Amino acid sequence: MSTSNASAHGNGCDPPGHGTGGRDTAGRRNIGVPVVFFDTTLRDGEQSPGSSLNAPEKLEIAHQLVRLGVDVIEAGFPASSPGDFAAVHAIAREVKGAVICGLARCTESDIRTCWDAIKDAERPRIHTFVSTSDIHLEHQMRVSRAEVLRLTREMVTFCVSLCPGDVEFSAMDATRSDLGFLSEVLAIAVEAGATTINVPDTVGYATPTEYASLMDQLYDRVLGLDRVVLSAHCHNDLGLAVGNSLAAVERGATQVEVAINGLGERAGNAALEEIAMALVTRKDILQRPCNIVTTEIARASRMVSNFTGHLIQANKAIVGKNAFAHESGIHQDGVLKERTTYEIMRARDIGLADSDIVLGKHSGRHALRSHLAEVGIHLDGKELDEVFRRFKETADRKKTVTTADLEALVGEEMRERGDVYSLEHVYVSAGTDIISSSQVSVSKQGQEKAGKAFSGGSVESIFLAIDDAVGVKGKLMDYQVRSITSGKDSLGEVRVVVEVDGKRFAGQAVSIDVLEASAKAYVRALNNVAMKREAGGARGDRVYL
Ligand code: KIV
Ligand code: ZN
Repeated sequence: MSTSNASAHGNGCDPPGHGTGGRDTAGRRNIGVPVVFFDTTLRDGEQSPGSSLNAPEKLEIAHQLVRLGVDVIEAGFPASSPGDFAAVHAIAREVKGAVICGLARCTESDIRTCWDAIKDAERPRIHTFVSTSDIHLEHQMRVSRAEVLRLTREMVTFCVSLCPGDVEFSAMDATRSDLGFLSEVLAIAVEAGATTINVPDTVGYATPTEYASLMDQLYDRVLGLDRVVLSAHCHNDLGLAVGNSLAAVERGATQVEVAINGLGERAGNAALEEIAMALVTRKDILQRPCNIVTTEIARASRMVSNFTGHLIQANKAIVGKNAFAHESGIHQDGVLKERTTYEIMRARDIGLADSDIVLGKHSGRHALRSHLAEVGIHLDGKELDEVFRRFKETADRKKTVTTADLEALVGEEMRERGDVYSLEHVYVSAGTDIISSSQVSVSKQGQEKAGKAFSGGSVESIFLAIDDAVGVKGKLMDYQVRSITSGKDSLGEVRVVVEVDGKRFAGQAVSIDVLEASAKAYVRALNNVAMKREAGGARGDRVYL
């Protein structure tokens, strides 16, 4: 059996993924065998409503995933749009230290496009999928079971001819499929040379006991399954994605498909950070190591949140703002006396620094560059100049600039690359007992356009003034503000979702002034409208919502 999906990282477990199929006295398979982490933040995660990552952002996230010790990076779905193809291609060429995987439907043209995008990778993987449930066969694909068997054999064989030694096959909607038919399809995929077999709970329907039992039954029924990687891919519609993935691991699954912050279609995928910390914290019972470098979790989480604009709920396990906060007196008292009374993990285990005040207005370009490098962001030349300019502007208005501020500023710089419109000025007059009025100036390829508006609220007047300048009528569907750090002088982050011509576009921005951030976020959303128009939809609908 080849171990092409293995990579040497973090926790001293190399190579992961291929079990012996041996069982312990409780009938559990693969005790002690490392779990492969297959990260799909850039593919399934990118399908979450409102995500719109551009190619530089995707590259930056892919580099961070390598630092995090992820074994396989699913970089995208190359046939879905030219934009996705370009991003996967760039990641395949540039990112070393993990398997780079692309998704393809079971068609020759998808698979060929996928291969073209990933073939330059150090270790490429083609991931092909077909539905196996009768619901999908009848109502979506409109094909017979016999056709699915034929497609599986022919397309897996085709994948193996292009990418020998690393082909993943997924049976979409596996958990709602007839067990006999599912087993037949998977046996054909193994026979045709698939090296990883993925069993998706596509609609997040399974319960942990049921999913665990499915793993057991597949091991019993599918010839050769114990010689390949068996993978769990769980969606979170019932809030069970992590529970189901861990249940599969307990029954011997050797790969989990996960996303940072649990991003993904609808309610999302299983959260990488939750599974990794469960494996580490409860190694006594789970007994399955992994290569995740847990001290990189916080940074990865912040980066994905900054770039995608998906805020993290405060009580989210592991990476939420409150995950390590003790509020009640009894808890605080206990923790002060002995940390383990109420704490099962330490903040520093996931890379949260005790104190991260870093730079002030006298800090120079060199200090900025080396601090960014320390947190894994490597900038030079024009990029560094631009982030330095933003840093200076911020430091002039804010006493200290923290790591979280810097990461937000870098995110801001990345988001604005390739923009059509940029906000030049915004002036707002607002207060109690007066009508708010705003004047803006927005430039498009060097040409400035002015706009003005009056209305009951300052934010509304800004958005109307931008509509006036750009000549677009946007309908505001969502508006959120949060502070990046604590303190009255914190940077504020604004996220908007704007509907134009019946489609929704997200925009996000940070600034020391939330009204300025609001204006910038709105202009960013209109940039996404313009990009979509210019590309004639080339980046694909799902990128925009
Ligand atoms: O949820 C799902 O079934 C998927 C497949 C494409 C693997 O994302
Ligand atoms: Zn999925």
